[in-house]
Amino acid sequence: MCGIVGYIGHRDAFPIIIEGLKRLEYRGYDSAGIALFDGKNLKVSKTKGKVADLEKRVNKEISTNGSIGIGHTRWATHGVPNDVNAHPHYSNSGDLVIIHNGIIENYESLKKELVKRGYTFKSDTDTEVLINLIEDVKSKENVKLGKAVQVALNQVVGAYAIAVFDKNKPDEIVIARLGSPLAVGVGENEFFIASDASPFLEYTKNAIYLEDEEMAIIKANKEIKIRKIKDDSLVDPYVQELQMNLEQIEKGGYDHFMLKEIFEQPSAIKDTYRGRMLVKEGIIRMAGIDDNIEKFINANRIIIVACGTSWHAGLVAEYIFEDMARIPVEVEYASEFRYRNPVITNKDVVIAISQSGETADTLAAIKLAKTHGAFVFGVCNVVGSSIARETHAGAYTHAGPEIGVASTKAFTTQITLLTLIALKLAKVKGEISNSDYRYHLQELELIPEKVEKALKSEEHIKMIAAKYKNARNFLYLGRGYNFPVALEGALKLKEISYIHAEGYPAAEMKHGPIALIDENMPVVVIATKKGHYEKVVSNIEEIKARQGKIIGIVTEGDVNVKKLADYVIEVPESLESLSPLLTTIPLQLLSYHIAVMLEKNVDQPRNLAKSVTVE
Ligand code: G6P
Repeated sequence: MCGIVGYIGHRDAFPIIIEGLKRLEYRGYDSAGIALFDGKNLKVSKTKGKVADLEKRVNKEISTNGSIGIGHTRWATHGVPNDVNAHPHYSNSGDLVIIHNGIIENYESLKKELVKRGYTFKSDTDTEVLINLIEDVKSKENVKLGKAVQVALNQVVGAYAIAVFDKNKPDEIVIARLGSPLAVGVGENEFFIASDASPFLEYTKNAIYLEDEEMAIIKANKEIKIRKIKDDSLVDPYVQELQMNLEQIEKGGYDHFMLKEIFEQPSAIKDTYRGRMLVKEGIIRMAGIDDNIEKFINANRIIIVACGTSWHAGLVAEYIFEDMARIPVEVEYASEFRYRNPVITNKDVVIAISQSGETADTLAAIKLAKTHGAFVFGVCNVVGSSIARETHAGAYTHAGPEIGVASTKAFTTQITLLTLIALKLAKVKGEISNSDYRYHLQELELIPEKVEKALKSEEHIKMIAAKYKNARNFLYLGRGYNFPVALEGALKLKEISYIHAEGYPAAEMKHGPIALIDENMPVVVIATKKGHYEKVVSNIEEIKARQGKIIGIVTEGDVNVKKLADYVIEVPESLESLSPLLTTIPLQLLSYHIAVMLEKNVDQPRNLAKSVTVE
């Protein structure tokens, strides 16, 4: 979703903002813009398209001098992606400019009032309404910019992260957040503003994360004042040291972030269990679980809320929790859960899974669960994210920054972490024998090595990708633990290659999808040795009888599926419960190579956003 970058200090703002916007490209966007103050004039340049297009345009249109400015990548919500709707937006007087991530829900009623007061609008955006509302308050009440922003925001319903600049007050930028992330990088006599820390990592490791309902007035002379938007009370800035480094957010020799992240999975999985799983001692320790163990073992049920790939990880977790810890689990799309008046009690434990920790629907689902007294546990990747802070307790996946829009290492690390939790609870509840428990730990420890091995099939997978890249539809089948993997495989293909794909539980095929099967339909079937193998082999026979093309994901050394399938991709043998960590790998690589062969924008697929901060 929209990305925000700003700079105020002693350096040239332009390169910092442009490079910063490039770092935020992964969030997904369709237009970009920048406002720079060159000491005398405030200039805006914006365009539909990419940051590279903006860069070219700025160089033709405006002076790039100046050490204060704001830049934006826009993911359209109100109004089509075009030059006019791109941010920044001026106020009617031309004195104020704004960039905004989020949605102002009551913009139509605010706009009506402003039109009555003589304001005119060039764009279809809710953002232009907000900047004129700020201007209106400023002139009506004769107050400074900070106060005007505060008063205006108290009239707004919706979500926002904003940065506002007044050309008559060129030594400050005012920022505010509610529901959309905003970080401030604190340097020596300079400040960086961004949707996440990646745009300013090379300049400073010190960051302040604004909380919801906070605003800040940032001055060039190294002052930052944070206030609560509602009651104007001052907040002490909490400066934290970032653990991320630049290398982690660069491609490191890979063609795409997605490929880099696929290949990072062995280390990401290891990082997720490192320090938490002591195999020799037979111990799993995680503060967030250990401190709240009673809540988990006395829970009536666990409700998992998530979206997208994280929801698929939740489905895998349902199998693990029920199978091992014998706790009933429900897995919910956060967007449905939040609006369907669900039954939640204080005996429920809610687990919210989110890579970004910023997904608006998941955040709303958490808030709802809290109002009903449920204990809410977060499984997030981004440290300090909104969901990590909103939950009662949690554990991070330690996958490192995931930049490719199509989630890969986040998925496998979420499953790893949820497996650890399930094993811990199974042990504490006495649902698993000691030897079985220890065996699971040993097997989990071996997974990174096995993932490494699974990655070695890349060339073979490339060949299969070349064969089927022009198919218009794909079907993905799996059973048990691998049913969610089938869903995830289909999602990956849809996301980055724009080929229609459906994931199905293998046995459900005969209740519909089988009608679609003919010689043009590739069917990817997960048929690993443990878990319903014979039944899945029968499903493969059914596909074969209808001339479907079969790509089998099988256990090393398999012979039965090999006889039936057009192609097989082998993964190492493992416990059934851990097999999703391996079967996912070829599906990620298959979709990646198909998308590359179709010349699609793998890391930034059309219309998608990495972090969905609007509902
Ligand atoms: C977007 C991303 C997906 C992600 C989903 C949930 O749709 O493109 O890759 O799975 O949001 O995001 P979260 O950050 O909450 O895991």
